[in-house]
Amino acid sequence: MTRPTALALLACLATAGTPAIHAAETPRGDPDLPVLVDENPDPRVVEVTLTAAPLQKSIIPGAPRSHGFGYNGGSPGPTLQVREGDRVVVHFRNRLPEATTVHWHGLHLPFTADGSPFHPVAPGEDYTYDFTVRRGSAGTYWYHPHPDHRTGHQVGMGLYGAVVVRADDDPLPSTLPEKVLIFMDNRVNGDGGLDFPQHGSPQATADRENGREGEVLLVNGQVMPTVSIRPGEVQRWRLINASAARVLRLHLPGHTLLHVGSDGGLFERPVEVNELVVANAERVEVLVRATGQPGARAVLQTLPYDRYIPQTRPADWNRARELLALQYTAGPAAVPPLLPVTLRHVPVLDTLQATARRTIVLGQGMINGRLMDMGRVDVAARLGATEIWEIENVVGMDHPFHLHGFQFQVLDRDGVPEAFRSWKDVVNVPKHQTARLIVRYDNYPGKWMFHCHILDHEDHGMMGVLEVR
Ligand code: C2O
Ligand code: CU
Ligand code: CU
Repeated sequence: MTRPTALALLACLATAGTPAIHAAETPRGDPDLPVLVDENPDPRVVEVTLTAAPLQKSIIPGAPRSHGFGYNGGSPGPTLQVREGDRVVVHFRNRLPEATTVHWHGLHLPFTADGSPFHPVAPGEDYTYDFTVRRGSAGTYWYHPHPDHRTGHQVGMGLYGAVVVRADDDPLPSTLPEKVLIFMDNRVNGDGGLDFPQHGSPQATADRENGREGEVLLVNGQVMPTVSIRPGEVQRWRLINASAARVLRLHLPGHTLLHVGSDGGLFERPVEVNELVVANAERVEVLVRATGQPGARAVLQTLPYDRYIPQTRPADWNRARELLALQYTAGPAAVPPLLPVTLRHVPVLDTLQATARRTIVLGQGMINGRLMDMGRVDVAARLGATEIWEIENVVGMDHPFHLHGFQFQVLDRDGVPEAFRSWKDVVNVPKHQTARLIVRYDNYPGKWMFHCHILDHEDHGMMGVLEVR
């Protein structure tokens, strides 16, 4: 038991509602995000208002003309904080000049609340997303637009935000200061405006192939923000890769990270790692242990990751990039908290129960040789069925594969069994590799998208429809 110092108490108070704030030591401002305000007095109902609209301010710091879109006046949008079992009612207002949706990436919810291209919200219209947060789904998710053919554009304009689902029986100490960090990249032109290539230009062709990457790396909408940490402290970081195409390979020099969770929440036990590949749309939870000296500084980097076809690989792909600074406070060290060796049980999906095996072939821009057609059902399945999907990437670049509606478990990659069970909704399938996953279609009938999460690929039709009935 540590002696409660005034500082620790403050940190406790701060973690109760929003992540801890250490504003005094952060020269560039703390990267904490605003939280969506719950307007409903019922403790088990979270009712919020979310408005998508053009932003008057720049979504890229220091680029005055890069006007974009935001949620509730900001980019990224405010974080949706809920608990398992909560009913969530989102009053969404589309004040953009174009149709949009809000997709709750990774959440298990009714078809009408999925915000997929099947339920567009016209400009000026409102839509209510209403769902109950599944028990056992505590984890880190995110929301983003998902209109037919326009997802990449709208996300690039600034529309994305975090979702945090908490469990009442979270195994990690509630006293750990927590950070939600959303990674994004963007591209600006010489005038400081957001740069989307002209239709048919060489850049448009390159983007269609690689997915749009930008040289400006943002963490919670800031360039190189500072997170401050007290020596001895352990922080819980929820990391979301919201980039359209960039794969992160995270490394914090001088530190190993405790990898405790992925898309659908915590693992059964922590895993110590030196670096962590986080494909676009994936999430990870890590514990950062402040093992450095008072006043020390470390920089979280993304190391080179070759996801590209050699012919279109960007010239500077081989360069490590800096993401954020971790600044140690000068004050006295905290007594490191005790961390649990086991986290939570991850139920087994039994392969013997599987009633179908599907083969999904990822080609360049196509799935099973076809482009997306909203009027077609690519996979038809029965509600409650368990199935195995084999995702085969037959081309020379990575494709992060995503399924809506249902979390799955990866069984093996290129025949190598997964080291431990975890809930996922995105699996990056590297060039010429195959991943097998198991999924059960619980509770909700409907039409669910599956697609490559490189937004340019998705928008150009690298997507299919799973109908569960
Ligand atoms: Cu992150 Cu179909 O979506
Ligand atoms: Cu999704
Ligand atoms: Cu792809």
